[in-house]
Amino acid sequence: MSLKDFVLQNLEENRPSYVSGQQMAEMFQVSRAAVWKAIEALRRDGYEINSAPKKGYALLPSSDILSKGAIYHFLKSEYRSFSLHVYESIDSTNQAAKKMAVDGAAEGTVIVANTQTAGRGRMGRSFYSPAHSGIYMSMILRPQTDISDTVLLTTAAGVAVCRAIESTCKKPCFIKWLNDIYLDEKKICGILTEAMTNCETGLVDSVIVGIGVNFKTPAHAFPTELQSRAGSIFSDEIPSVTRSHLIAEIVNKFMDLYADFTQKEFLKEYHSRSFVLGKQISYFAQNQWHDALALDIADNGGLIVRDKEGKIHTLHSGEITLRNID
Ligand code: BTN
Repeated sequence: MSLKDFVLQNLEENRPSYVSGQQMAEMFQVSRAAVWKAIEALRRDGYEINSAPKKGYALLPSSDILSKGAIYHFLKSEYRSFSLHVYESIDSTNQAAKKMAVDGAAEGTVIVANTQTAGRGRMGRSFYSPAHSGIYMSMILRPQTDISDTVLLTTAAGVAVCRAIESTCKKPCFIKWLNDIYLDEKKICGILTEAMTNCETGLVDSVIVGIGVNFKTPAHAFPTELQSRAGSIFSDEIPSVTRSHLIAEIVNKFMDLYADFTQKEFLKEYHSRSFVLGKQISYFAQNQWHDALALDIADNGGLIVRDKEGKIHTLHSGEITLRNID
């Protein structure tokens, strides 16, 4: 670990309290001047660090720069061995994750970016990914399962994101099937799960779970076409946590569920967080929209609906719309 990373980790662990420069110098066995230089380098990178005589240095609560050190700090110890890649700007973290997976990246590899230039959403749409205000992350998984189980991973990711937002940001979240997270009736997060299969075995080779969260995007900043539907965890207030903290908590909560995801224990919670059940919806299938009543969540994460003719169907992919919010 470099001195700069060491200093950052210490400041992060004690934020917003002061850490003595002398103490950090002794721990890393360097001079106080070297610590001061590391502080200056961090400030040049954009970290907001206060200094006070006899107290040392303190990282301000508002300082929210994505860094490996900050994310690692909030990861549970069992997940600190994961390979973590943090980019300032990238085309798409899912795209990068796919390339890494093909090159043999290990399960648990996490890719994070401050901004995406070609963020991808579901159904071929783009995902609005402005710098400094959102979370754009992808995780590489290598479940030894059949492709049909991958919808469960999206379901688990939805529950994990809700839990992470609630525990760090203290805001209640709900799920619109399949994978949109809502807060105050606005979409604040979308999940794009992509699987690569091995043609010979028919088994899944790798799964990329991509998560995009509007963290502190002001309402007026969204493109006009998104303004009525998109929201942000913190829109008009100063965030009480950093993006790095929430990213780590999403990894923690997701990996906890992933450990035995085939047991499907999270489905009950997914069900209780789902706000479409009992509502009139439309879904797209066989090239046309159908009206239906959303009845239940199936054992495999699918949505059970009853159409106008009274027939029951289970939807496994695609998109639904709810008249009052879509
Ligand atoms: C959707 O709502 O349609 C899904 C959006 C998923 C966006 C995330 S951001 C991180 C990852 N990289 C991408 O290009 N897309 C996903």
